[in-house]
Amino acid sequence: MDVTRKPEPRDQEEETVHRALEGFYSDGKPPWDTGVTPPELVALTEGPRRLPPGRVLELGCGTGTNAVHLARHGWDVTAVDLIDRAVERAREKAAEEGVAVRLLHGDATRLDELDAPGPFDLFFDLSCFCGIPLHRRDAYAAGLTRRAAPGARLLMFGYGPEPLANPTTEIKSWAAGVTADELRARFTGWELLDVTPGTNSVPTFWFTLGREVQP
Ligand SMILES: C[S@@+](CC[C@H](N)C(=O)[O-])C[C@H]1O[C@@H](n2cnc3c(N)ncnc32)[C@H](O)[C@@H]1O
Repeated sequence: MDVTRKPEPRDQEEETVHRALEGFYSDGKPPWDTGVTPPELVALTEGPRRLPPGRVLELGCGTGTNAVHLARHGWDVTAVDLIDRAVERAREKAAEEGVAVRLLHGDATRLDELDAPGPFDLFFDLSCFCGIPLHRRDAYAAGLTRRAAPGARLLMFGYGPEPLANPTTEIKSWAAGVTADELRARFTGWELLDVTPGTNSVPTFWFTLGREVQP
């Protein structure tokens, strides 16, 4: 059965973001592509406080470093990115590493157009949500909420508002970043469990949200 919906057209702001992101990938390796899995994710896959592997959905997976990491640690991984070159590279990386990852080219704010029904135990977002146009962010939150298993977690890294030396100033959402208050407001039915500042030279945060278990 085809569970996906017809693509909904993107508006002007989304087109601008799309073009800017394509530019980063067409220039070779984008600046954020370190190839290193952050310790905040490693803490969930290894060590004393690791989670039991289940289903995970990564939003904005880029070239797949962390999707591959999760698959290597026994997770059933679905990973989405808006930019086809990123997804192609992620597919190559997964093949090189010999792990199975379901890689989807598409929009994290339009998950109904993709074959990613869930339910998922974990969502991982390393700097995707904070770059999404503000008017699409509720759709992102709703898409995750519909796919969340009871008690699911969302681990998100995001840039805070402003000080990013943002060369593409017309992209308002990139300057807006993300805040704890925004996540509390947009993710209804979730609890913000933790906010830990990142170690970057500009304000960044690791947010952990938990989906409330329905009575
Ligand atoms: C700052 S990059 C980080 C990439 C990757 N998480 C990493 O750390 O290497 C943000 C990623 O989110 C993707 N992205 C942005 N908006 C998206 C959307 N609406 N749906 C899916 N992916 C999106 C971009 O294409 C890009 O790969």
